[in-house]
Amino acid sequence: MEIKKVGVLGCGLMGSGIAQVAGTAGFDVTVLEVEQKYLDKGFAGIEKSLAKLAEKGTLKESPEAVRGRLKGSTKQEELADCDIVIEAVIENLQEKKKMYGTLDAIIKKDAIFASNTSSISITELMTATRRPERFIGLHFFNPVPLMKLVEVVRTIATADNVYETAYEFSRKLGKVPVRTSDKTGFIVNRLLVPYLLDAIRAYEEGVGSIEDIDNAMKLGCGYPMRPFTLLDFVGLDTTYYITHVMYDEFKEQRFASPPLLKRLVMAGWYGRKSGKGFYDYSDPNSPKANRL
Ligand code: CAA
Repeated sequence: MEIKKVGVLGCGLMGSGIAQVAGTAGFDVTVLEVEQKYLDKGFAGIEKSLAKLAEKGTLKESPEAVRGRLKGSTKQEELADCDIVIEAVIENLQEKKKMYGTLDAIIKKDAIFASNTSSISITELMTATRRPERFIGLHFFNPVPLMKLVEVVRTIATADNVYETAYEFSRKLGKVPVRTSDKTGFIVNRLLVPYLLDAIRAYEEGVGSIEDIDNAMKLGCGYPMRPFTLLDFVGLDTTYYITHVMYDEFKEQRFASPPLLKRLVMAGWYGRKSGKGFYDYSDPNSPKANRL
């Protein structure tokens, strides 16, 4: 099957990034949101990112040409003729299932449904629809326009031709796809989450300060983003949610949330997006580690 028209559910950080890369790759894209104000915010981010990429000379066309293929909508019916729909809404199982159930009746029968979830079971999401063989995971990484990886996730019910179509589609987006199966966390979070949680535990145990642990991993291992910087970047609420899903699945201590992570989330310190997390972002150009 050929993919021509792409639907994206959600115009937040991930949804807008996915829409942007699909538009850049030449696909017609419709992004669905519940309110116009979320579309406006997401499209402003896309325009800023496209301008930056154009300035660096990494866009093959003008930002306007890419933007011309992207459309925002608050009407589910406008996604009816999409060949693939990629969902990137808030990580809430019940919300996602409700949305899939409604869209299943609206979107054409042979369209592929893909979720960008980082931790929720694709198999469980699939049960909200009557197209289990046409349901997969496509897990992108933040910031989507820059990060090359897509995890292509299959369930025991995914049809081979659907999986291969999605794999090729990821390539057409200019990404490098990897094959993985529906085990919570897939490849990246299975390895990344225990590492990030260990950084918090190391701090709790007094192994080093936030800055020193951060610098150690950047300068000693060459990681592009330091652990506490990455935690604040991903979002502490998101990380906390992922720990619950992963711990619930595997019942292993390495996926359990350290007490400090819970305290930060309870206090509303979600990281960069809330202005405060392991670092204080009052001056975004010079974040200062908080004393925790
Ligand atoms: N669009 C276009 N350009 C962007 C951009 C975007 N969305 N975001 C950043 N840039 C630009 C910056 O403006 C900057 O431009 P200049 O060189 O002109 O200043 C350039 O990209 C480089 O950015 P930075 O100088 O800020 O920093 P950097 O060299 O460290 O690169 C990075 C940024 C690619 C994000 C790099 O830090 C990196 O690879 N970080 C790791 C990110 C990561 O691990 N992501 C995965 C998170 S986990 C996840 O997403 C999944 C999950 O399930 C939780």
